[in-house]
Amino acid sequence: MTSDVIELNYPIDIDRIRNEVDTIDYEDQICIQGLDAGMDPLYGARGFSGILNEMGFSEFDFDTPLFQLDYVNSIIQELSMFRTRLFRSDSKTCLSWHHDDWNAKRIHIPVYTQDGCFMLIEKTPYHLEAGKVYLCDTTKMHTAINASWEKRTHLVGVVHA
Ligand SMILES: [Fe+2]
Repeated sequence: MTSDVIELNYPIDIDRIRNEVDTIDYEDQICIQGLDAGMDPLYGARGFSGILNEMGFSEFDFDTPLFQLDYVNSIIQELSMFRTRLFRSDSKTCLSWHHDDWNAKRIHIPVYTQDGCFMLIEKTPYHLEAGKVYLCDTTKMHTAINASWEKRTHLVGVVHA
């Protein structure tokens, strides 16, 4: 049985990522890639299968960098990530139990995480470490748990995998 979370052999400089990500002002979710360079980064930040599906867009149409993040954008390009977003969750919160749309897997790059942060896919919890890159099968039922005392931040993008 293969794991639903696979660590990719792709070294990253977490300090460079943090320096760039920390320049972005947002609450809990924001798009790093958009439909075009002028797109409001808060447009399509949340679950959008309803509206955008009707408009004929898919997550793979979100391919244009919205911020001047030289290093993060180079990672996104090299790993062929689309609709990459920043997700920040509060201490002692979790997401609803869901699976993602489009039948595509997601790359997770933890930016800030702590003990007590887990990705729960079906019945298996995974702690994803900062400084590593993971391919996650979010087509299966899952949630993200932040049972720590601090915020948790991940970069998450869709991949053709
Ligand atoms: Fe999800």
